[in-house]
Amino acid sequence: MDLGIKGKTALITASSGGMGRNIAHALAAEGVNVVLFARSADKLQAVTEEIEAQHGVEAIAVPGNMLVRDDVERLAATLRQNGGGPDIVVLNTARPPNPIRATLEENDEARWKEAYENQLWGTIQVVTHVIPLMLDRGWGRIIAITSASVKQPMPHHSLSTVFRAGVTAYMKHLSNEVGASGITVNCVAPALIDTSHRSDGAAYSAEQTAARKKLTPLGRLGTQQETTGVVTFLASMQAGFVNGATIPVEGGMVGSLL
Ligand SMILES: NC(=O)c1ccc[n+]([C@@H]2O[C@H](COP(=O)([O-])OP(=O)(O)OC[C@H]3O[C@@H](n4cnc5c(N)ncnc54)[C@H](OP(=O)(O)O)[C@@H]3O)[C@@H](O)[C@H]2O)c1
Repeated sequence: MDLGIKGKTALITASSGGMGRNIAHALAAEGVNVVLFARSADKLQAVTEEIEAQHGVEAIAVPGNMLVRDDVERLAATLRQNGGGPDIVVLNTARPPNPIRATLEENDEARWKEAYENQLWGTIQVVTHVIPLMLDRGWGRIIAITSASVKQPMPHHSLSTVFRAGVTAYMKHLSNEVGASGITVNCVAPALIDTSHRSDGAAYSAEQTAARKKLTPLGRLGTQQETTGVVTFLASMQAGFVNGATIPVEGGMVGSLL
C-alpha cells in the first residue's frame, strides 16, 4: 500500500537508539526524510548514516537535549532552514527512572522530577518550539509515544503513569487546537515490547520478562516492528481521520472493552 508520505519530512525525538531509531527507520523505508534529535552526537550520526545508506532518503542529525531550551530552539531553527518545518513529528522520550517501585516507596523527589522532565516537560518543550512551524503547511501528523499504563495502570508504575497520563491529556488538547490546520495528533501506547536489542541491555530482567509474557493472551513480548508499524500507519495519508486517539500496542494486556 502506498502510504502517501514519500518525500515528507519527519522529526523523531529521542532517536539515537531503541524505539526512536526504529521508528526513524520505518518512516525512512516509506521514503520519508528524517531529522533525528537526541543527546549522543556520535550515535545520532551513525543512525543517520545507516538510514541514508539503507533507505536513500535524507537524514539530518541534530544533537541536543529535549530538556535544554537552547537545544530545542536550535532544533526548530534547523527544521525551519530545511523546508520550513516538519510534516510529521514523533515525540519519543527517555524511559522513566529505574527500578520501578511501589507507590508509597516512590518518595524520592529527584526521581519524580526526572520522570516529570523526561516524560512530560521535554515533550511540551519540543511541541512549543516545533509545532508552530507546521501550522501553515495544511497537513501534518503528530504522534506521541506514551504507555499502555494510561489505559490500565501496571503495578509499581505510578512514577511513569502519572506523567504519561499528562502527555495524553496534553496531546488531546493539542488535537483540538491544531485540527483546523489539517494536523492530526495521536498517541501510541506500548507495553511489553521487546527491548533486548538495546546496546546497554534489555529494559527488563529475565524474571520480569517471563512475568510480562503472562500479561497478554498472546503469551509473548511484542516486537519493535509491531510498534513502528502502528506509528507509520498513524503518519500515513490513510490515517487522516484518526485524531485525538490513543492506540494501544500491548498484545491485549488491557482488560477493558474499549
Ligand atoms: N518497550 C516497551 O514496552 C515500552 C512500553 C511503554 C513505553 N515505552 C517507552 O518508549 C520509549 C522508548 O523506549 P526505548 O526502550 O527505545 O528507550 P531507550 O532505548 O532507552 O532509548 C531512549 C532514547 O532517548 C534518548 N534520550 C534520552 N534522554 C533524552 C533527552 N533528554 N533528550 C533527547 N533524547 C533523549 C536516548 O538517546 P541519548 O542518550 O543519545 O539522548 C535514546 O535514543 C520510552 O519512553 C519508554 O518508556 C516502552
